[in-house]
Amino acid sequence: DKDPRAEVIASSIRVVPNFPKPGIMFQDITTLLLDPIAFKNVVDMFVERYTGMGISVVAGIEARGFIFGSPIALAIGAKFVPLRKPRKLPGEVIAEKYDLEYGTDCLEMHVGAVQPGERVLVVDDLVATGGTLCAAISLIERVGAEVVECACVIELPELKGRERLRDKPLYILVESR
Ligand code: PRP
Repeated sequence: DKDPRAEVIASSIRVVPNFPKPGIMFQDITTLLLDPIAFKNVVDMFVERYTGMGISVVAGIEARGFIFGSPIALAIGAKFVPLRKPRKLPGEVIAEKYDLEYGTDCLEMHVGAVQPGERVLVVDDLVATGGTLCAAISLIERVGAEVVECACVIELPELKGRERLRDKPLYILVESR
């Protein structure tokens, strides 16, 4: 049944209409971060789900996937690998372009950060169209690793991002409202 922690999380997220452009209902997680109980609920719920699953890598998506992915990686004893926007990583990278809710972008990952056969959890704050998660999955699979699941705090279900993830499971804590 419903975990009461999810309601604490949902009510801590500020929805900002028409940001960054008209028609977008921006899901602002900075207000969640101001509430230590809500922030802890997010980390605890993910850590409970992913402990003992043989996950050796948490891949966090820039920028807000870093905030939630790092404490999860520490708690489950996994590496943290940042998936970054272009020209941020200094080493050799592989890149994957994707379409965004507003515009187009690209994610990069350091070559060698994830080894073939590793079990990877992908973390971000939000899934909208699913384009970003789709690019993250591609990067990980291109190096021969396995995406166990994608974990996001918030889903915008009307954008059907879940359907773009092929067979990869998506786990979310709250739906947008
Ligand atoms: C947002 C969000 C996800 C992505 C989801 O990031 O944090 O990463 O969009 O959208 P999608 O499911 O349609 O791909 P944003 O592009 O705003 O980048 P930022 O976190 O670097 O600001």
